[in-house]
Amino acid sequence: MDHPIAVIDFGSQYTQLIVRRIRELGYFSRLYQPSELRETGSPAAVILSGGPRSTLEPGAPEIDFDYLVELGVPVLGVCYGMQLLNRKFGGEVAPGNTREYGPATLMIEAGVDSIFNGLKGHSQIWMSHSDTVSVLPGGCQITGRNLDGIPVALKWNDLFYGIQFHPEVSHTKEGSEILKNFLSLAKDLPPFKIASFKDELIERVQTEVAGRKVVCGVSGGVDSSVLAALLHEAGVDTRNIFVDTGLLRLNEAAEVQAIFEEVGIAIETVDASERFLSALAGVTDPEEKRRIIGRIFVEVFFDAVGSDVELLAQGTLYPDVIESATSGSIASTIKTHHNRVDQIMQLKKEGRVIEPLDNLFKDEVRELGRVLGLPERVVGRHPFPGPGLAVRCPGEVTPEKIEIIQKADKIYIDLLRERHWYDSVWQAYAALIPTKTVGVKGDERSYEYALSIRAVTSEDAMTAEWVHLPYELLGEISNRILNEVPGVNRVLYDISTKPPASIEWE
Ligand code: XMP
Repeated sequence: MDHPIAVIDFGSQYTQLIVRRIRELGYFSRLYQPSELRETGSPAAVILSGGPRSTLEPGAPEIDFDYLVELGVPVLGVCYGMQLLNRKFGGEVAPGNTREYGPATLMIEAGVDSIFNGLKGHSQIWMSHSDTVSVLPGGCQITGRNLDGIPVALKWNDLFYGIQFHPEVSHTKEGSEILKNFLSLAKDLPPFKIASFKDELIERVQTEVAGRKVVCGVSGGVDSSVLAALLHEAGVDTRNIFVDTGLLRLNEAAEVQAIFEEVGIAIETVDASERFLSALAGVTDPEEKRRIIGRIFVEVFFDAVGSDVELLAQGTLYPDVIESATSGSIASTIKTHHNRVDQIMQLKKEGRVIEPLDNLFKDEVRELGRVLGLPERVVGRHPFPGPGLAVRCPGEVTPEKIEIIQKADKIYIDLLRERHWYDSVWQAYAALIPTKTVGVKGDERSYEYALSIRAVTSEDAMTAEWVHLPYELLGEISNRILNEVPGVNRVLYDISTKPPASIEWE
C-alpha cells in the first residue's frame, strides 16, 4: 500500500498498539525498524515509538535524522522518540533518578497551536519513562506540561512534534484523538478498509501463487479458516489438511468438517489422535510436550500431503511476525514451534511459504472473514493454542484428563454463549489442575481433580485482564461441571492478570 504511516520501533512493549490505533482510525500503518527508515517508501507520516533504553546510553538506537527531515512529512516522537528528536534538534535530555510509571495529567499549554487542538485544558495520560528533556533547542515550543510544570509535549516546528506519554495505551484517555490530530497534518493518508484490502490481498495471493498448487493446514480456528476462504476466493488450487490431534475441543473435528462443508471448501481430515496421545504418555515437561506435538504435527501433515509441496500457506498474523522478530519474548518461542521445524524452514528458504495474512491483526482477520462470507461462529471464535488442550493440562497428558477438560470446557463455553458473555470475552477455557484433593460425593469421600476456569479480555494476547463474570453465572458453571463431569470435585475461577500470569496454564 502506498504512503503507509510508518511507525519506527525503538522496542517499547506498546509499539504495535500504535499501529493498531492508527488502523482503528481507518488508516494503513506498518512497523519498521530504525534502520529501515529508507524502506518506508514515501510515508504519509512517521511516528518514532518509545523504547526501553536511554538515548544517552552508548549504542542506543538511532535514526537517520537528515533523511527524516528530507521526507518533509509530519513526525511524532513518543517517549524515547521525543527525547531522540529533542537531542537531534540540538536540545538535551537528562537521566532521571526514578522511573515515572503510570497515570499522570497533561496540562495543555494555552494559545499554542498543537496536536492537542480541540482537547480541554487537561487530560489523563499514561507515562513510562525515566529520562526527561532538560534543555530545549531554539525555536522549540512547549505544548504541554505535567502537574509539576515539566515539559511533556513539544513542537520543534510545524512538522515535528513530541510527547513524553503513550497515546496508544487505553489509559491515555484521549490518545486516539491526539493521534488523529497529528495525522490530520499529513497529506495522502492511506485509507484502510478491509473490503478493499481484501481485493488487494487476492491479487497478491494470485501473483505469489502463480498457478502453483498450495497446501494449507486448517484447524477450525479463525486464522486458518480465513486463510482457506481467501485462497478459495482467489481461485487457488488448494488442499486443506485438518489434523485431528486428539487435543481438540469436544466434537471439534466433526464441527470443523461441517462448517467447511457449509461454506463449500473441501478439507481432508487426518485422525492422528492415537499417535499424539501415545507420544505424550509419561511426558511432563511443558516445553518437551510442545516439541513432541510440533514434531508429530509436521510429520502427520507432510505424510498426508506427500513431499511434493509446491507452496505451503500459513495463517501467520501481524503480531506473530512482530513477536518473532523480538528476540527473547516468550511469545516467540510459543508461537513459532510449528513454523520453526526444519521442513518448513527449508520451504521458507526456498520461497515456498506464503503468509497472506501477515499484515493483519486478529480483529482485522475476523473482519476479513466476515467479508469473505464465513459464518459468525467461525470468525467470532476464541483463539485456541496450536498444541491444543495439552497446554491446558499441566503435567502428563492422558486421555482421561483430556476427556475431563473437553466436557468441562463445553459446559462452560455453552453457558457463556447462552448468557451472551462469549463475544465480549477474548478467550475462555477450562484447564485441569493436576492435583487430586479430597471431597465428598454422595455419602462417599472423593479424591478427584480440581479444574480452573478462566475468562480474559485482551488486546492481541499481549496483556490480559480477567473478566468479572457474575457470581450467579460462576455458580451455575461450577454446579454443572461438578454434577456432570466425572473426576472433578472442585472448580476454581482464575483471577490472574497477564502479566504476571500468562493466558494459558502450561
Ligand atoms: P499465553 O499463554 O502466552 O498465550 O498468554 C497468549 C495467546 O497465545 C495462545 N497460544 C498459542 N497460540 N500456538 C498458538 O497458535 C501456541 O503454541 C500457543 N500457545 C498459546 C493462547 O491461547 C493465547 O491466546
